[in-house]
Amino acid sequence: MIDRHAHPDASVVDAIIRSRRAIRFFTKEAVARRVIEDLLDVARNAPSNSNTQPWRVHVLTGQRKTALSDALRQAHDDDAHPPLRHMPDPLPDAMRSRQEGFGMRYYGALGVAKSDVRERANVTARNFDFFGAPVGMIFSIDSTLTKYSWLDYGIFIQTVMLAARAVGLATCAQVSFARFQNVIADHLHFPPGHEVVCGMSLGFPDEEAPVNRIDMAREPVRNFSTFLGFD
Ligand SMILES: Cc1cc2nc3c(=O)[nH]c(=O)nc-3n(C[C@H](O)[C@H](O)[C@H](O)COP(=O)(O)O)c2cc1C
Repeated sequence: MIDRHAHPDASVVDAIIRSRRAIRFFTKEAVARRVIEDLLDVARNAPSNSNTQPWRVHVLTGQRKTALSDALRQAHDDDAHPPLRHMPDPLPDAMRSRQEGFGMRYYGALGVAKSDVRERANVTARNFDFFGAPVGMIFSIDSTLTKYSWLDYGIFIQTVMLAARAVGLATCAQVSFARFQNVIADHLHFPPGHEVVCGMSLGFPDEEAPVNRIDMAREPVRNFSTFLGFD
């Protein structure tokens, strides 16, 4: 029954969504500006509340990316900024156990022990080098907007990641950048009241890196859905 209505490319869309992974090791192969413009051209079709399109993207490569990374690495090493509270502490139980599962898989794939505080800090620092990707993106938003516009933003960011995946590129969305709002705002000359949503690494995946092959578990549909009135 569903086949009658299905888009002819439905299986392609499914495959792109299912095969996207957060990628944290990249090859050095450059990505042409035109390719990135094309994927942002796809992503701008993302829906938003009242079509407000709250996204603003800085795309960096080469010396401009290195300069931002250097400033962020320095800020990370200085450790003068307060830690980023991007989740409540404590997390609700179900989410905390998934977060722990993430940590086990991630640090396990990197061979880093949970107790090794210094090495974990080095792992975190790689975020600011955009994990060695040739392209770094910084997504920002007018900070007067509310959580509903941030919802729009999430949809946009997933659309960027899927558009990238469709052309063989890999990504990692990175909230870590938000810790250094001031450094980034200075560096990119943000207008007043503009806020970092997250960053993103973009490039071609290093297929050899074990950490790129982690399969992050997902809950089955029945665990997060309630169907009412179907039978
Ligand atoms: C909004 C957002 C922020 C994220 N921030 C980071 C980050 O700062 N550093 C990082 O290594 N991964 C980050 N991730 C990647 C998640 O850890 C990853 O998406 C999750 O573990 C699921 O794995 P998968 O994307 O491979 O399916 C982020 C993902 C999202 C959606």
